[in-house]
Amino acid sequence: MVRNVASLVLVATVAAVLAAGDVPARAGGRPKLEVVGGNVAKAGEFPWVVRLSMGCGGALTAPRVVLTAGHCVGPTGPNDRITVTAGVTDLKAKNAVTARSVEVVRAAEFQTETRGDDWAVVKLDRVLSLPTLALVPDASGDQGQVTVMGWGQTREGSLRQERRLHYATVPTIPDAVCARSYLPAKVVLVQEESICAGRHGVDTCQGDSGGPMVRRGRDGRWAQVGIVSWGLGCARDAYPGVYTQISRFRTVILAATRALS
Ligand code: ARG
Repeated sequence: MVRNVASLVLVATVAAVLAAGDVPARAGGRPKLEVVGGNVAKAGEFPWVVRLSMGCGGALTAPRVVLTAGHCVGPTGPNDRITVTAGVTDLKAKNAVTARSVEVVRAAEFQTETRGDDWAVVKLDRVLSLPTLALVPDASGDQGQVTVMGWGQTREGSLRQERRLHYATVPTIPDAVCARSYLPAKVVLVQEESICAGRHGVDTCQGDSGGPMVRRGRDGRWAQVGIVSWGLGCARDAYPGVYTQISRFRTVILAATRALS
């Protein structure tokens, strides 16, 4: 899949930093083949998740708006380059719905994914009649078991994107623990804007960026807690997956969404 240059550079840099004293991914465990270590979603599950043509995920958060990662898109402004595939878990299913981007609003402070502010909203050329995903109302759901998903690689070393949506349930990891994990790699976690998550052999991976991290609210409905952002490798025990913390950006994301609706 095609990731943007920033994330390629990051992966390359971090890989270089680690090359000397690297630990093998999933040392001691057999790599599981699926997100990494996940399951294949059934048709109709997660009806608001979408695939973006540059090789990212996203979620329909309004009938005409997709929320994704800032590093998946270009700068704020008119943009007709993104094709959105929606309404399916199997990207080749006949009932796939497609739409085209018309405009992008990227977080004003966005620099690169590891620096925080990794979110963007994309306006579509038409309204889609599909369920939309709500954002979590507050930070109370920022810890615990969460579900992550995408069509990205099922192994760190795989260069293949998946045709079918994969998902996995993973526990969040406290910011301080996560920040400490990344210190040896010289990556400073922006703790107040990130949620870390993952468990042994289970993580998102390249191509899952922009996709939603969700949990069920009290009403039983899914709500978006995070956005797949970055990680060092995939499913390495020492390096959790890092997600944009929706509760931190809720107000500004909702305002941007409203402005595009
Ligand atoms: N930046 C990646 C992408 O563009 C997402 C990586 C997530 N990595 C992880 N280990 N959780 O697809």
